[in-house]
Amino acid sequence: MKKTISQLAKKVGLLLLKEFQQAGRVTYRDKYRHEIITRFDLLSERIILKELKRKYPKYAILSEESGRGKIKSDYVWVVDPIDGTTNFAMKNPLFSISIGLVYRGEPIFGVVYAPITDEMFVAEKDKGATLNNRKVRVNKNKQMSKAFLTFCHGSNAKAIIRAIQLYGTMKLKGKDFRQLGSAALECSFVACGRTDAIMIPGVHPWDVAAGVVIVREAGGRVTDFKGREWNIRSKDILATNGYIHQQLLKHIDV
Ligand code: IPD
Ligand code: CA
Repeated sequence: MKKTISQLAKKVGLLLLKEFQQAGRVTYRDKYRHEIITRFDLLSERIILKELKRKYPKYAILSEESGRGKIKSDYVWVVDPIDGTTNFAMKNPLFSISIGLVYRGEPIFGVVYAPITDEMFVAEKDKGATLNNRKVRVNKNKQMSKAFLTFCHGSNAKAIIRAIQLYGTMKLKGKDFRQLGSAALECSFVACGRTDAIMIPGVHPWDVAAGVVIVREAGGRVTDFKGREWNIRSKDILATNGYIHQQLLKHIDV
């Protein structure tokens, strides 16, 4: 499975890389008021879903652009064909392809691939997390004041307003608090110790299904904003190195 899914992500990544190397902005249209879509989101999704259906015909699929497939199963592929479409459109390299497998709501396998930096994050439950085939671990920072924190938000106005409130609370609490624009990649950054936490009010499952297992397998902790273990139905997400999890939960007030 690791080989199949990472090869699939890489194949799609090469198409995105080719487009990225063209001059100027990627053509997009509005999906919602604050969210865009490109033809590459649809192309990437088509390639990924075709292969998943061929290789795993009994597994269900939930994918950002096409929603839920017809098959019902305890195993669900949760796919974001491009996580960070706005970054992709503006040629900011922080975007990724995210393919997670969830069993009864719990992420058990995940691949996040960033084509521009050629970074492949992979994790499987109880088998650890890797970046380009090397084991990764979360960092050991125990002080919120020294933490590199990032955040995203869901696409509706309510989630955005909650993120703005969160910004007011958190910006001065850590070393910094930034919006990088690809939730899947930001989870992966926590997993390999580059950042200490990512938080998302109003999270979409496809943005983080793969990232959750990558963080957990790297030794981190992932809950909702009330401290309950994250599952596919959770509305918010806090993924951390584990050490600063409780401190952050105390300050999250949205
Ligand atoms: C988006 C990114 C972003 C988050 C948005 C998501 P998309 O994913 O993960 O970081 O703030 O809510 O929608 O739309 O580019 O797949
Ligand atoms: Ca997407």
